[in-house]
Amino acid sequence: MSESILRLQSAGADVVIKTQPFAEIVYWGPHLSHFSSQDVCSIARPVANGRLDVDSPVTLMAELGHGLFGAPGIEGHRQGLDGSPLFTTTDVKQDGQKITITSEDIHAGLRLRSEIQLDSSGVLNIRHGLTNLRPQPWQVDRLAITLPVAERAREVMAFHGRWVREFQPHRLTLEHDSFVLENRRGRTSHEHFPALITGSASFSEMQGEVWGVHLGWSGNHRLRAEVKTDGRRYLQAEAMYLPGEMSLAEGETLWTPRLYASYSSQGLNGMSQQFHRYLREQIIHFPGNKPRPVHLNTWEGIYFRHDPEYIMRMADEAAELGVERFIIDDGWFKGRKDDWAALGDWYLDEDKYPNGLTPVINHVKSLGMEFGIWVEPEMINPDSNLYRSHPDWLLALSGYTPLTGRHQYVLNLNIPEAFDYLLERMTWLLGEHPVDYVKWDMNRELVQPAHQGKAAADEQTRQFYRLLDVLGERFPHIEFESCASGGGRIDYEVLKRSHRFWASDNNDALERNTIQRGMSYFFPPEVMGAHIGNRLCHATFRQHSIEFRGLTALFGHMGLELDPVTADAHEREGYRKYATLHKQWRDLIHHGVLWRSDMPDSTTLAQGVVSENKSQAIFLVTQLAMPDYTLMSPLRIPGLDTGARYSVTLLDHPNIQVTGKGGHTMRKLPEWMTTPQTVSGEWLQQAGLALPILDPESAILIGLQRV
Ligand code: GLA
Repeated sequence: MSESILRLQSAGADVVIKTQPFAEIVYWGPHLSHFSSQDVCSIARPVANGRLDVDSPVTLMAELGHGLFGAPGIEGHRQGLDGSPLFTTTDVKQDGQKITITSEDIHAGLRLRSEIQLDSSGVLNIRHGLTNLRPQPWQVDRLAITLPVAERAREVMAFHGRWVREFQPHRLTLEHDSFVLENRRGRTSHEHFPALITGSASFSEMQGEVWGVHLGWSGNHRLRAEVKTDGRRYLQAEAMYLPGEMSLAEGETLWTPRLYASYSSQGLNGMSQQFHRYLREQIIHFPGNKPRPVHLNTWEGIYFRHDPEYIMRMADEAAELGVERFIIDDGWFKGRKDDWAALGDWYLDEDKYPNGLTPVINHVKSLGMEFGIWVEPEMINPDSNLYRSHPDWLLALSGYTPLTGRHQYVLNLNIPEAFDYLLERMTWLLGEHPVDYVKWDMNRELVQPAHQGKAAADEQTRQFYRLLDVLGERFPHIEFESCASGGGRIDYEVLKRSHRFWASDNNDALERNTIQRGMSYFFPPEVMGAHIGNRLCHATFRQHSIEFRGLTALFGHMGLELDPVTADAHEREGYRKYATLHKQWRDLIHHGVLWRSDMPDSTTLAQGVVSENKSQAIFLVTQLAMPDYTLMSPLRIPGLDTGARYSVTLLDHPNIQVTGKGGHTMRKLPEWMTTPQTVSGEWLQQAGLALPILDPESAILIGLQRV
């Protein structure tokens, strides 16, 4: 038996797989320093009375035929037949930290290929490929990846959200049955980010065991945390298919999206740090590996009002403020006067730009900035020339009235002519203009998505990937941002072909604090577009000081989202200050290790980045609402070199108020803020640093330098 036991190992986590006669993951947990394959016998299960007479494994494909009685990993049939496959291993290969298992069901005529790889970061990635071996098609209703987790993983954390409020975490204790998250919106969605985290009781940022998974897929999906009646637990994730959507012809293979999984014995921080490291090393390909430039995006400054002369003035101001990349958002193409018309007509609006785009681009470049532009290729407005000439190019089910979203329909990318049209238009835009960056938007959901009468949400997502892949090959120097009304398409698969995410259409600094924190569980700061918006936020009509907005945008890929021409002198000084501060620290923020601190008062958020060599760090403390207690609890600073001493400085303390006269909440600052101090890393980690009592909706930035 022991030869059939294989192990994948990394510094933090190991996976042990029994491969014969069928594959079964028997362990996913902390790294084992003294592993012997014989040890696996110790967990051979007894058989319970009153049920099947044999053991029921949770196999790699979680087939019902083993007596699973939980949610299976595969469901489908061949016109009612071959509907309960059971796979037997036929071949196993291990190449370093990657195992490939082939298995077959000769009765059902199906072959399965499973790839399981453990990266040195500790991140596991798994996918399955199902092949139909018979002439008659096999209808795939479900094909999922199932990953057992320890019985002690009793709590679940998932994310809900909506437009302008992405990545909101919620928690539950799961004792029985299952928690299921389903997304039928046709894109990754604001509502159901494809991830589940499960952990030991009361796991937190810094404590507890955590098993987190993310499905890399930008379409419909289902994720499940299941507790079997025998107490075993597993996580499951899949691309979700609409009725009739997926069937396999003879010889055809369906690959699941990849499931990315990270185990940490040190709370959520450990899980995130592994995911971040994995993305940095394996997925993010940033052209040129240069610092990420500070953006100015025109959207919330001028919306659809495009006047080249004025835009050039905006560019002048932007350059003067330290902006390094200038992006023209929606409104530049033919007939785009508002959001009712013109999507699909990817020609320049010559009424707005009589001399073409080139003079504007040249102007931007002459100011030393890069140039970027907005597109939304997958969409078509009923009021567009494209729709008038090709009303049949919709991703829709004929016979029904298609529903609009933001006054637009979806273009069917499965129609070769429609795909080629987009490719040609995008090639014109990106090939004939010196574009450095594209903001690629996708502003509505898919309803009855169909091609030739058959559901086609999955295929639409694949064609979207193909379009971006071809453009990426043609224009390897161009960076793409994935945007879908803000954070509606943020996942690891789209990140393979893009470089940045627009986290949210909500630039309200208060809201951004929770959105950005939610996003940080799975994504490092450098891919998170974080902009300083107008003082009056257009999404919430709340107002925040430039200091609070500036510090909130600091821990991402920073930009401005406003009109610098009309901003007053105080605001402009703030934009300049925070752009400069970001540039000063972006190397650390974009390459260091991110830590979120546990704060006993839920009105306080604290996070920081520590350099890989632990020589420097910055921590941001944000007060969201009135503190619960009269004193804020000390900030325990994780991640430092415990054997070293650090000088502690206040890098930015914009809103601190000490009146001593009533009003505000503080009479005297903590001592370290008035008398410079050096403190040991160990002490800062264990005892912490006293915080000033902050007013609601304000933040401070603390710097630490090893002495
Ligand atoms: C979406 C995006 C915004 C902006 C507008 C333009 O809402 O999320 O950032 O680009 O479209 O129409």
